[in-house]
Amino acid sequence: MNSKINIFINKKKNKKKLVCLTSYSKPLSKILDDHCDLILVGDSVSNVLYGMKTTHKISLETMINHAKAVSLGVKKSLVVVDMPKDSYKNPKQALKNAKNILKKTKCDAIKIENNSSNLDVVKLLTKSKIKVMGHIGYTPQFKKKFKVEGKNKLEQTKLIRQAQKIEEAGAFSIVLECISKIAAKKITESLKIPTIGIGSSNYCDGQILVTDDMLGLSGFYPKFVKKYANLEKIINNAVKKFNKDIKLNKFPKKNNSF
Ligand code: KIV
Repeated sequence: MNSKINIFINKKKNKKKLVCLTSYSKPLSKILDDHCDLILVGDSVSNVLYGMKTTHKISLETMINHAKAVSLGVKKSLVVVDMPKDSYKNPKQALKNAKNILKKTKCDAIKIENNSSNLDVVKLLTKSKIKVMGHIGYTPQFKKKFKVEGKNKLEQTKLIRQAQKIEEAGAFSIVLECISKIAAKKITESLKIPTIGIGSSNYCDGQILVTDDMLGLSGFYPKFVKKYANLEKIINNAVKKFNKDIKLNKFPKKNNSF
């Protein structure tokens, strides 16, 4: 088995929390690599970088280009690439596209969002030795309306069963997005593979956030995001100073000129 994946899975067994963040570029990945177990080239790039309203229209080519850039900046972390919405509609198509992503980007694994009918995709990919990360709860590719899942017993039972089936199908890990505390706890306890939460409590084996959100750059700060920096303010101040310097003829100076 890929040793990076092994190390990742073993952290759950050793009760070590897994640190995961998103990246779409080489310079950011280089910074994240020292501090993360996993870097996700998320299809959130659609909203965060391209200003799209949903993640539905990002192309395979765009995901591959970002994943190539991320891969160049990473030495030790596991790099996972999100498969775009229409790239895994059936097992055969998923296999062709997943192989293409991994071959062109040199990344370690792919992530798909799970719905009630794509377990066969996980099965064929893992059977073909492709490392697959699952994703349940709020899955923006398939769900129109945001909703926290797993608040009642029926939903909890369904989510636990869904997670178990994804594990049985061969996934090495699973993202739990906006799932209630109690459901996240039960799912995490019932699986051997690590659960990575986003808005799903600290019962998960690890956590992921969209880096631009936690750095205060995306303008998107729902309850589950903690802002660790305010890059919007920092950039704003820097650009303001640049503007002033130019108007006052303070930049470029002699030492900036040839
Ligand atoms: O696209 C993404 O960034 C994701 C994370 C939010 C898990 O899927």
